[in-house]
Amino acid sequence: MTLNQQQFMTDVSAAPVIVFLEVEAWEEAILKRLCPPAWRARYYAEEADRIDLDKIGDAQIISVFIYSDLDASVLSQLPSLRMIATRSTGYDHIDTAFCHKHNIVVSNVPSYGANTVAEHTFALLLSLSRNIYQARERTLRNDFSFHGLQGFDLMGKVLGVIGTGQIGQHVIRIAKGFEMRVLAYDPHQDVAASQRLGFEYVGFDALLTRSDVISLHCPLTAETQHLIGTQAFKKMKKGVCLINTARGGLIDTEALLWALDEEIVAGAGLDVLEEEEAVREERELLSGRFDGHKLQAVLRNHVLAKHEQVIITPHIAFNSREAVERILQTTLENISAYLAEAPTNVVDVCEDS
Ligand code: NAI
Repeated sequence: MTLNQQQFMTDVSAAPVIVFLEVEAWEEAILKRLCPPAWRARYYAEEADRIDLDKIGDAQIISVFIYSDLDASVLSQLPSLRMIATRSTGYDHIDTAFCHKHNIVVSNVPSYGANTVAEHTFALLLSLSRNIYQARERTLRNDFSFHGLQGFDLMGKVLGVIGTGQIGQHVIRIAKGFEMRVLAYDPHQDVAASQRLGFEYVGFDALLTRSDVISLHCPLTAETQHLIGTQAFKKMKKGVCLINTARGGLIDTEALLWALDEEIVAGAGLDVLEEEEAVREERELLSGRFDGHKLQAVLRNHVLAKHEQVIITPHIAFNSREAVERILQTTLENISAYLAEAPTNVVDVCEDS
């Protein structure tokens, strides 16, 4: 569906108040160009849990990115709220149980570029397999020796994909181009895809035991929190590479540090970290807003970032020019559809989360 301005209310006084949060200047420019004039839209750079909520108390629709922690304490201070349009695929930053109870519609952007995240997955994997980061550091020092920079081929290696949704399947397509063998684990198997793309579904433990590279592409839920912890690492092949472009909470960071020390994990490429919002706002740790648990997570992430065998990117897997434009377009279409009383991309809001 494309934006159709006829669908929007023309009576400005009746138009709902739409608040876009976590908006950077360039995004605001695009949104202002695309938003129908009848919308009463306002734009703020802050996250929902950092802004003075009095400023947005009249919002009937809010649009956020992933750093707005929309928990019950925030949502209960937005009495007019009827819809949340998250500019992301994941929605673990939103208390969907609260939304269910209070009839707040939550829409996400389910597909804006499975290729975009999948391409970044391989950017991380190739950086590890060919020591790109160490090589650049060396040549910056005018040192052109190649000793210690020997990498490994992807061809013939076993890739274990955890989660074979849109991104996982695109990762598999790329892996096939590298002539990798692909195993996958997903509680909801897509048998047609496995036949079409040529990969094999196996149990979780078999994937851990048999893979040379493991890549995570499942959502973060109560069940998948710390899916990769000490027990999982103990089952992995020594020298495995672990890639996470899904959500930081899927991996127990403390266990990952242990597995790196034990040389079970030879390389980790991470676009997402546990408690990454605390890492972004480290100064706030001094404000006392964060508990000891978050402080520990930040310290662990520092240790991880300095580790020779780890490459971290700051949650940019989605962030290509083309994907971001698609995200903004779909978000506006979601709001438009909600206003036309035919909401689209509504996420499964559970009664208890
Ligand atoms: P999707 O919904 O198409 O696929 C997710 C798959 O995970 C489904 O097939 C589901 O059955 C499977 N799954 C659920 N529980 C599982 C479990 N316990 N073990 C294995 N598989 C399980 O989602 P999509 O679009 O492929 O995205 C995957 C995740 O990637 C999102 O949930 C999001 O957290 C993350 N993401 C990260 C981005 C970034 O910038 N780093 C950007 C976009 C998404």
